Amino acid sequence: MSNISIISSFAGKHWKSIAIGSCFVVITNLLHVLLPSFVGQAVDLFYNNFSFRELYYICGLIILIEFLKGVSRFFMRYIIIGASWKIENDIRKRMFNHLLKLPVTYYNKTRTGDIIARITNDLTAARMMFGPAVMYSMNAVILLPLAIIFMLSKDVELTMYAIIPFPFIAVMMYRIGKKIHENFIKVQESYSDISAHVQENLNGIQVIKAFVRELSELNKLKKLSREYVEYNCRVIKIQSFMFPLLDVLASTGIIILLWVGGKKVISGETTIGVIISLIMYIGLLVWPSMALGWVTAIFQRGIASMKRIQEILDEEPEPKDDLSDIYTLRGNISVKNLNFSYNGKFNVLSGISFEIKPNRTIAIVGRTGSGKSTLLGVLSGIYSINRGSVFFDGKDINDIPLSCLRSSIALTPQDTFLFSDTIAENISFGKEGADMSTIKRAAVLASIADEIESFSQDFETTLGERGITVSGGQRQRIAIARALISEAPIIFFDDSLSNVDTVTEKLILNNIKGTIKGKTALIVTQRLGAIRDSNEIFYMKDGRITERGTHEVLMELDGEYAALYREQESIESLKDNNTL
Ligand SMILES: Nc1ncnc2c1ncn2[C@@H]1O[C@H](COP(=O)(O)OP(=O)(O)OP(=O)(O)O)[C@@H](O)[C@H]1O
Ligand SMILES: [Mg+2]
Repeated sequence: MSNISIISSFAGKHWKSIAIGSCFVVITNLLHVLLPSFVGQAVDLFYNNFSFRELYYICGLIILIEFLKGVSRFFMRYIIIGASWKIENDIRKRMFNHLLKLPVTYYNKTRTGDIIARITNDLTAARMMFGPAVMYSMNAVILLPLAIIFMLSKDVELTMYAIIPFPFIAVMMYRIGKKIHENFIKVQESYSDISAHVQENLNGIQVIKAFVRELSELNKLKKLSREYVEYNCRVIKIQSFMFPLLDVLASTGIIILLWVGGKKVISGETTIGVIISLIMYIGLLVWPSMALGWVTAIFQRGIASMKRIQEILDEEPEPKDDLSDIYTLRGNISVKNLNFSYNGKFNVLSGISFEIKPNRTIAIVGRTGSGKSTLLGVLSGIYSINRGSVFFDGKDINDIPLSCLRSSIALTPQDTFLFSDTIAENISFGKEGADMSTIKRAAVLASIADEIESFSQDFETTLGERGITVSGGQRQRIAIARALISEAPIIFFDDSLSNVDTVTEKLILNNIKGTIKGKTALIVTQRLGAIRDSNEIFYMKDGRITERGTHEVLMELDGEYAALYREQESIESLKDNNTL
């Protein structure tokens, strides 16, 4: 995407405000260049036919011009800077909306801190470009030629001398702008690294404390922060060098003017008023020339930042659903020779085939890493797969709108996540607008209601970030209540009861028997004792279903399932006998 198309796509509908604001930039500058001319005329009055009437007239005009300039400047700032905030607001909404549509695979490969840096720091840089940078660059582009035209109308020769330093200023600005740009990209990348590091550390604060890694994490941050400061210092160094140099160059113009102009005044070729006007014009030229350098840097930053934002917007979202074709699945799942790979190299799922009818509860068991979560992820449409291997109600998963698929499946992922909101809100997340009695019923089924009611504000208790104010087991059960409250015909539990004791696990599974009646349930668990009653059990190993059948059939088979079951049973009986 070219710079122009990026800028116009980001400005969106606000280009009109920027255009109107720009008209005020023109008016402000027109009024601005009139002033030195009037001041010069007033000075010349003292030397030629002085009259108070004329002096009053000129002073009145100056006051009027200053007033009009003030009004125009107000609208210029208000409209352009206001538009830049609105542009920032639009881009932020667009980014967030897009982020919500990106597949989970995007988040697997991208650091959250990097995304946050783009939606905050880069967005600010883009706003600065549309606001102050547009305003000051317009200012410069209009004021510079206007001032030079007015100067030429006063004295062509003196003007030519006075503007000698300005081409040098332009060249210098260009070179400095380039340097600033190179360093600014490093500044932004470095900022992303810091955000990612802080964000990751805060998420993993318990692990850091448990392994006493505070110091090493702090040192990592110090290193990143030092780099950030270093890159910023480079930018500041260039800018700090730039401003005094510009001052010197501009003063050279004034010195030349005093020198050559002074001689002309003495010889009577020009007046003192003209010299004063020209010096004032040089004063007018200095700021826009300096601003051009500063603005160049903001433009460079803005464009670099917009490209980083655009990278997110260019990420392929999940396919858009046809909203006229929204329906609920019945719960018939058919999988035919399913193979799946995360990286395209080796298969995590191989040759999986099964058929599940509604009203059936299937348990998926197997050693860690055997592919259970991956299978549920594929069936939930989180990971995309080729056509011809997964069918719901006879329809290929690729032909089912994602919103239909997901609203038909109540998934409790292995990593339970709760929002920092009330418990009631967390549970009703599974069914928008659910009333309190429905929320409580779901909590009872998940065997968590009594515990919630013992909290200070029962269901209105607010959970800390990620629900850290409740225990791991409580968190899992709240997540189960969230799944149970939804009316989805398909239920997936991914090891959702690993943090509750075996007795509670059995109790919950018993409780929900009524609720999941008529539904298709896939329950992944490590504890075989809890799912003995399932209609069928799949034993997975290395991405394949190696054994399948009811508990009795699998025990009779005397394979790996039976071995694992006996292993767990003996551990349980040892526990019961208090020998462990
Ligand atoms: N996002 C991912 N990217 C790449 N590989 C992955 C990803 N998630 C899982 N894997 C790999 O896929 C294999 C199966 O993982 P999966 O999470 O499905 O196992 P699991 O049976 O659910 O294990 P557990 O019982 O420990 O939850 C593992 O070898 C794992 O390393
Ligand atoms: Mg898993």
